Amino acid sequence: MTASANAKFKPRVFSGIQPTNHLQLGNYLGAVKRFVQMQDSGVETIYCIVDLHAITVWQNPEDLRNATRELAAGYIASGLDPKRSILFNQSQVPGHAELGWVFNCVARMGWMNRMTQFKDKAGKNAENASLGLYAYPALMAADILLYHATHVPVGEDQKQHVELTRDIAIKFNHDFKVDFFPVTQPVIEGTATRVMSLRDGTKKMSKSDPSDASRINLTDDADTIAKKFRKAKTDPDPLPETIDGLAGRPEARNLVNIYAALAEVSAETVIAEFAGKQFGVFKPALADLAVARLSPIAEEMARLMADPAEIDRILGDGAERADAIAQPILDQTYDIVGMVRSRRG
Ligand code: AMP
Ligand code: TRP
Repeated sequence: MTASANAKFKPRVFSGIQPTNHLQLGNYLGAVKRFVQMQDSGVETIYCIVDLHAITVWQNPEDLRNATRELAAGYIASGLDPKRSILFNQSQVPGHAELGWVFNCVARMGWMNRMTQFKDKAGKNAENASLGLYAYPALMAADILLYHATHVPVGEDQKQHVELTRDIAIKFNHDFKVDFFPVTQPVIEGTATRVMSLRDGTKKMSKSDPSDASRINLTDDADTIAKKFRKAKTDPDPLPETIDGLAGRPEARNLVNIYAALAEVSAETVIAEFAGKQFGVFKPALADLAVARLSPIAEEMARLMADPAEIDRILGDGAERADAIAQPILDQTYDIVGMVRSRRG
């Protein structure tokens, strides 16, 4: 982690994941695993289940509740300790929506029009997308800045949103002549910042891809994981002798990167071990490694999911601790903006 752009702010990490569908390997390697590493490095960490973001597209209410608890279980099973980190769901801390509104009034239409995630998600039918989907990045800026977070670990696809967060902080500070919000740094590191689909090495692995074979879900059993890797799209050549030999071979590169991230070694080390080997050798080794790493997580998730009341208790406790940080920052924001705050209690 590099120093904050703004030395006055103490290092604080914030990140979030949407409770939609099951966690997939890209979320785990690109996000959750790195959240845990940051927690273990001793810095203050706040991790959120962004349910308000999830409803920017239609969610069945019962599925949303389940996905929220399952994501909490996924975080904890991956090593997130709700005592050392703050873990909560966004809607239980009202400051997110409130600061989100203020930022809707700071962000410019021109900035929002450049957001590629909106274009991807709204597709050809942008007229029919929710207003929330369009405003989504301003709410994300609020998530981060409500805690004066200095560092945000995310996958590559979220870089543009963190840059918008920086623009919002800078404009707010400038418009009100204050030095109130930090200019947050995205933390996009490691070999798995963009895990690709197993069916198409040029497409991101995603929870929402219609093809289940395109991704490894954290809830997949050992047989399913092995089958998905066996069927993963590749080219007919053996693995190259050097990393440069992966150029123009997106599927091969993706599998090598996944192996490296799971084994916690560099892609060069993986190539050194498997140089000249066929995928018939590499894929089973990758499947074994993935099963060894992921099945303890899946088992722990299932154990945690058997006691949803305990998960809800953890999220409620986390929300109270998050709110204790957020509310004073929201109050100061309202003071800066010029709101009269005379209500007692
Ligand atoms: P989402 O599932 O869109 O809420 O994403 C949650 C987090 O996982 C974000 O930090 C994403 O950048 C990260 N993420 C999602 N898909 C991938 C992927 N295929 N590779 C790496 N990171 C990912
Ligand atoms: N937009 C992120 C995603 O789709 C989720 C998210 C919402 C987030 N708020 C955040 C990530 C704040 C980091 C920080 O993956």
